[in-house]
Amino acid sequence: MERIVIDGPRRLFGEIDVHGAKNSALPILAGSLLSGGETVLHNCPQLTDVDAAIEILKVLGCTVHREGKTVTVSSDTMTQNEIPEELMHEMRSSIVFLGAMVSRRERVRLSFPGGCELGPRPIDLHISALQQLGVSVDESHGILDCKVEHGLHGAKIMLAFPSVGATENIMLAAVTAEGVTEIHNAAQEPEIVDLAGYLTKRGAKIRDAGKSTVYIEGVKSLHGAEYTVMPDRIVTATYLAGAAATGGEVTVRRVVPSDLESVLPIFDQAGCKMRIWQDAIRLEGPGMLHAVRNIRTLPYPGFPTDAQAPVMAVLTVASGTSVFVETIFENRYKHAGELCRMGADIKIEGKVAVVRGVKKLYGANVRATDLRGGAALVVAGLAAEGKTRISDIVHIDRGYESIEQAFSALGAQIRRER
Ligand code: UD1
Repeated sequence: MERIVIDGPRRLFGEIDVHGAKNSALPILAGSLLSGGETVLHNCPQLTDVDAAIEILKVLGCTVHREGKTVTVSSDTMTQNEIPEELMHEMRSSIVFLGAMVSRRERVRLSFPGGCELGPRPIDLHISALQQLGVSVDESHGILDCKVEHGLHGAKIMLAFPSVGATENIMLAAVTAEGVTEIHNAAQEPEIVDLAGYLTKRGAKIRDAGKSTVYIEGVKSLHGAEYTVMPDRIVTATYLAGAAATGGEVTVRRVVPSDLESVLPIFDQAGCKMRIWQDAIRLEGPGMLHAVRNIRTLPYPGFPTDAQAPVMAVLTVASGTSVFVETIFENRYKHAGELCRMGADIKIEGKVAVVRGVKKLYGANVRATDLRGGAALVVAGLAAEGKTRISDIVHIDRGYESIEQAFSALGAQIRRER
């Protein structure tokens, strides 16, 4: 079992490029299934979740070729209509393949993705939306058996919650459905805009992606295209968190600063100095961080639930008391217990986490409980006195391209131990 070992504290200094966004690459790879043809995807991050998506494409019969950060998918050869259970379990977000699969096949079978480390992760919104587009769904014994008997047709869909995955699944199914689809209360995350950008490049007709109502006019088929994945805004936030927690000075390059509009003010309130360019952000951490009174996770453009854990790691050593309210996922404070092992003072009550700043964190043996929770432990370890050993780092590798190399390039004493 691999571990990440950090000898801290070390102030981070330097410049770093951020890699492509996992949450954008995954739905785009699913979209490569549509209509056959070839997708050439640049800036595709080298992550285990992306490996899992590529494996799914191969199992479905596609030809996939990877060279560094460029992935080429030819989906003309898609022959299969079922994703094996192991692959569905390996990556919960593999449900986003469903929308694209029903546009290619009259019958599709998937196992139910089930709960995950963030608590129950239902897919009721995905299913009801696809039903409105003409898919009949039978759920039994943990299997989703989907049939498209009379083709997909446009529909006016009202989402009860702006689910990112459900919005993506609807877009994927609707672009080649007959007629117009409207998604009301759609998710507005930048990754939705990126998926729309890719589909549009392939000939789809999508209007207002990134707004709360999205319009899609179905086209007969899509053609091949080349596309570049957007930068990862959560990885950006994590690198900035490392700089903030260690009182360092780091410039993160190749970013879209406007995608972080709800995150940067939190660093500002914590006392960090920032300079923002068109595609770079420099953050200078203060000698002493200040607490931030109220951080509430919300759908975009609100503060992202994925940045909650890394930012919490920063505020464990701020002067004063910070309060988080997690409104998106039920079970997203597992990292708090691990941070407490390092000396943090965090009390959780339901959706609320109260973080009383301590003078110092101390290195400890801790466990990555989930992807962003694991990244939070890395941030904490960079600032902590002594040796931090993080186990279960498979979670971290799902979403960060060799996190130890990234932080080590910024001066941290961090390595992977086999
Ligand atoms: C995506 C991101 C994830 C991020 C999350 C919220 C990917 C691969 N993952 O996940 O990193 O944390 O957005 O920004 O892009 N819900 C339902 N029924 C549904 C669907 C969702 O009740 O059918 C609930 C979920 O349980 C959760 C909330 O809606 O409480 C948000 O989920 P959603 O926006 O769908 O997140 P994901 O797409 O799974």
